Amino acid sequence: MFSVCTKTLRSSSKLSTYIRSLTTAQIFQQDGNGKSSIKNITVIGGGIMGSGVAQASAQNGFSVTVVDKDEYTQKCMVSIRKSLDIIAKKKFPDEPKSARKFIDTIFNNIKTTRKIEVGCETADLVVEAVVENLSIKQDVFRKADQASPENTIFTSNTSSLIIEDIAKSTSRPDKFAGIHFFNPVWNMKLVEIIKTQSTSDDTFKKLLRYTKDLGKVPVSSPDTLGFIVNRLLFPYLMESLRLHEHGHVSITDIDTAMKLGAGYPKGPFEIMDIIGLDTVKVLIEGWHKKEPENPLFFPSEILNKLVLDYKLGQKTGIGFYKYKHTLY
Ligand SMILES: NC(=O)c1ccc[n+]([C@@H]2O[C@H](COP(=O)([O-])OP(=O)(O)OC[C@H]3O[C@@H](n4cnc5c(N)ncnc54)[C@H](O)[C@@H]3O)[C@@H](O)[C@H]2O)c1
Repeated sequence: MFSVCTKTLRSSSKLSTYIRSLTTAQIFQQDGNGKSSIKNITVIGGGIMGSGVAQASAQNGFSVTVVDKDEYTQKCMVSIRKSLDIIAKKKFPDEPKSARKFIDTIFNNIKTTRKIEVGCETADLVVEAVVENLSIKQDVFRKADQASPENTIFTSNTSSLIIEDIAKSTSRPDKFAGIHFFNPVWNMKLVEIIKTQSTSDDTFKKLLRYTKDLGKVPVSSPDTLGFIVNRLLFPYLMESLRLHEHGHVSITDIDTAMKLGAGYPKGPFEIMDIIGLDTVKVLIEGWHKKEPENPLFFPSEILNKLVLDYKLGQKTGIGFYKYKHTLY
C-alpha cells in the first residue's frame, strides 16, 4: 500500500505533504507513554476559555497560574468554583466532606497574578486565551517570551487567527503551536492542535501528551482560517443569521429545525449564545477583512446590533435568548 502511494505521488509536490501527514499520524500513534515534562501551566486571560483551561488543568493535577487583571482573575475563580460545585455534587452526592476536599485540592493547584512576568517565571507551558485580537496577542507573547524559561512551550487558543502570525512575535517559533479548546472546556472532548511550518515534532508530541492527560481527544489541524471545526461551523452560523434576517424564519424555528431535522444537539443561535456574540462578530469581521468577496463571511446587522447593546449571550445573561444566570 505504502509503495503504491509513494509511486503515484513521487515527483509531485503532494509527496512532501503526504510524508508530513504520515509523520504526524506516526507521532499520534507513538505518543501517550512515558512521563510528561509539563507540570506548570500558565493561562494568560481568565475569561470564559481561560477559566475552563485552568480548571481542566488543575483538575488533572497540573499546577496552574492564571494571569489577568485582578477583577477578572476573581471572576475566573468564581466561575471555576461554580463549575466545581456542580461536579462535586454529582461525584459525591452524599459526602459533603469529600466534595469539599475535592474542590479544595483543585483550588490549591491554582494561583493568580496580574503580572505576566510573575506568571511565566516557572511555566512549562503557556496557554494564551486573551481577546481575539492579533496585536494584543502578539504583545502578550512578546512579554511572555522575555519572562519565560527557554524551554517553555507557547500556545494560543485563538479561534480564527493564523498561528504563525502570532508566533512571529516570539523568539521560539519551534516551541509555538495552536491549542484550540472548545467551550465549555470541562465538557468538550475535542482539542485541535495546530502545527505551523516551524513547530517542532517535540513540541507537538508534548502537546498531544498534555491534552490526553486532560482526558481530551486531540486532532491535528492545519494552520489555516478556522482550523477544522470553525472553518465549517462559522459559515453555517452566518447562513443561519442570513436565513433569519432575509428569509424571515424565526430563531426558534431554525434552532428546532436543525436539532430535530439534522440531529444537531444544539441549534445555531444557541451555539452563538454559548460562544459569545462578541466573539462571533470579531471572528467573522476578521475573515471578511481577509476575504472580502467571500459571501460566507459577510457580516450580519442583527449580530452587530446585539453586540452594540451588550447582549453577548450566556455570559451577559441575554443574547438571542434570555438566561436566568450569567456566567460571571
Ligand atoms: N468563547 C468561545 O467559545 C471560544 C472557544 C474557543 C476559543 N476561543 C478563543 O479563546 C480566546 C479567549 O476567548 P474568551 O471567550 O475566553 O474571551 P473572554 O472575553 O471571555 O476573555 C478574555 C480575557 O482576556 C483578558 N485579557 C485581555 N487582554 C489581556 C492581557 N493583555 N493580558 C491578560 N489578560 C488579558 C480579559 O481581561 C478577559 O478576561 C479568544 O482568542 C477566542 O477566540 C473562544
